[in-house]
Amino acid sequence: MSTKDNVLHLLKENSDRYYSGEQIAKKLNISRNSVWKAINSLKNSGYNILASSNKGYKLEADDILHADSIVYYLNDKDFFDITVHDRVTSTNTLAKQLASTELKEGNVIVAKQQTHGKGRMQRAFYSPDNSGVYFTLTLCPNMEGKMLPYFTALAATSICNAVASLCNKNPKIKWVNDIFIDQKKISGILCEASFSVENASLEYIIIGIGINVYKPKDGFPKELDGIVGYVSDNQIPDLKNQLVANILNNILLQYQKFDTKEITREYKSLSFIISKEVYIVKDKEYIPVVVVDINDKNELVVRHRDGAIEHIVAGEVSLRMENCDEK
Ligand code: BTN
Repeated sequence: MSTKDNVLHLLKENSDRYYSGEQIAKKLNISRNSVWKAINSLKNSGYNILASSNKGYKLEADDILHADSIVYYLNDKDFFDITVHDRVTSTNTLAKQLASTELKEGNVIVAKQQTHGKGRMQRAFYSPDNSGVYFTLTLCPNMEGKMLPYFTALAATSICNAVASLCNKNPKIKWVNDIFIDQKKISGILCEASFSVENASLEYIIIGIGINVYKPKDGFPKELDGIVGYVSDNQIPDLKNQLVANILNNILLQYQKFDTKEITREYKSLSFIISKEVYIVKDKEYIPVVVVDINDKNELVVRHRDGAIEHIVAGEVSLRMENCDEK
């Protein structure tokens, strides 16, 4: 870790009090001048560090996305390469552009705002400044293309676990890629992949995740009102950085094990649609069914009104529920 990271670490761990330059220098075994340089560098990166001539330095608690703060919370700091942007068109678009010139597993593009956030089925994903986190992780699994649904599943469970542990909420999954709290969508996942021409195996996969952390300053657009929600009513210091890191930690853990049975089991345990009556929407037709199961291939197993059982593949249909409609 660099001196800057070490100073950040110390200030974060002691964010309730001032730490003098001398104490920091002593603790980290560096010169006062190095401390001063690190503090300036942190200020230049946008950290709000209060400085008092007789008390020293104190990190003002905020909830602003910073690459080094995300890294601070990561378990494996070597696997991920994090960059944070103020505003992009879409982190998925950027990740794909980057992959075509410089493919790197563990690359993570984070944005504070997206002007053309993308959702599934050609929908837009509303991504205003300040209120959410939008990021895309690139992975290069040596696997067949049919494994793709497991990545959406492990991303979904990772989001639920992170939100549950950091915000004391109880998020649930609506097949296939939406996360809900209290019947409102708070997060969506868009996985995209590139396949090798030779053997149709996965060349790379990008996992795009958007989370509405707080209510946007100007509220949600009319068409999303009542459908879309957010994670927290109150600002929580460093929540966004912790959410990104916690989700990446969860994803990496599952990716390294890649136990498909365990992924499906956890996905099912967090799903709120099993045994519910829903509509599957095929070519604009609404078909009422009961969800019987989500099988090992992450297909939705449904029972039609005439008793017939059908296995639904993600991407072919969308799902509608009373009080819980999609955008
Ligand atoms: C959906 O709700 O259908 C999926 C939404 C996925 C949104 C995320 S935000 C980060 C990444 N970049 C995008 O343009 N989309 C994904």
